[in-house]
Amino acid sequence: MDVSQPAVPAAFDSLALRYGAAAVPPAGPWNEHIALLLSHRSVRGYRSDGLPSGTLETLVAAAQSAATSSNLQTWSVIAVTDPGKKAALAKVAANQKHIEQCPLFLVWVADISRNQRLAAEEGVTLEVMPYQETFLVAAIDAALAAQNATVAAESLGLSCVYIGALRNNPAEVAAIVGLPAGAFGVFGMCVGYASAAGATEVKPRLPQRVVLHLETYDATGESAHRAAYDAELEAFSARQGTALDTWTRRVIGRMGKIAAMSGRDRLAATLNAMGFHLK
Ligand SMILES: Cc1cc2nc3c(=O)[nH]c(=O)nc-3n(C[C@H](O)[C@H](O)[C@H](O)COP(=O)(O)O)c2cc1C
Repeated sequence: MDVSQPAVPAAFDSLALRYGAAAVPPAGPWNEHIALLLSHRSVRGYRSDGLPSGTLETLVAAAQSAATSSNLQTWSVIAVTDPGKKAALAKVAANQKHIEQCPLFLVWVADISRNQRLAAEEGVTLEVMPYQETFLVAAIDAALAAQNATVAAESLGLSCVYIGALRNNPAEVAAIVGLPAGAFGVFGMCVGYASAAGATEVKPRLPQRVVLHLETYDATGESAHRAAYDAELEAFSARQGTALDTWTRRVIGRMGKIAAMSGRDRLAATLNAMGFHLK
């Protein structure tokens, strides 16, 4: 046996962390890749050490290996290490301290500008450009790419956290990282080594019965499952030493009032101003 290889966590153990002991789904096929996926947790505290040389390029190769709608590849990523730029981006994103702490901050961009330039060079009109469908495709592409990078980073012992709060002021983000018209920072991502303070547990998810529907959508029993999940998340927040929270309170807090959108309620107008002209 090669003792240098860390043991793959057992399926039951990983599933129990992901769902809580009372809602563990049956274990099926299992390997170290799935164990890695189930061990994901967002990290909000980083050590200052930089990343090994070539890490950025490896993460981008993983990102570019994601599926992309019609191979259009309508995304880009801006790698930010400059402390001044990170501070400016943190300011846009509600002063989240981990943006300044992490050695690498990535701005993931829904990017139709490249295809606009292609059209200009080829002297053609791309009629499909000004449709919500096109923006959605670009945003999906960026998300799939980013998630591949996240998994790759986590496989290397790095940690990440997505930063949707960049959308609090997308025009400011565009100015900071020099985006052209038709390029929109959909979210950011901190990448680095977790500090002791940043270490955290796997956060439990809704029971599978709530999100998995066999053949047809079925919300039967949802209230009871939600109550059980509320208790699970409350226990999680107690273990983390954070303010006691339940999923129900989180959804209402995040979706109950427009103020919680922190400026993102102006997204349609912002996209229009940033060259998407959606219809
Ligand atoms: C698109 C997106 C945007 C997010 N934005 C933020 C953010 O601005 N700040 C933050 O601390 N976490 C952010 N998160 C992380 C979520 O809060 C986190 O994924 C969720 O609470 C589940 O926790 P886990 O990732 O540790 O399992 C974001 C996640 C996603 C997918």
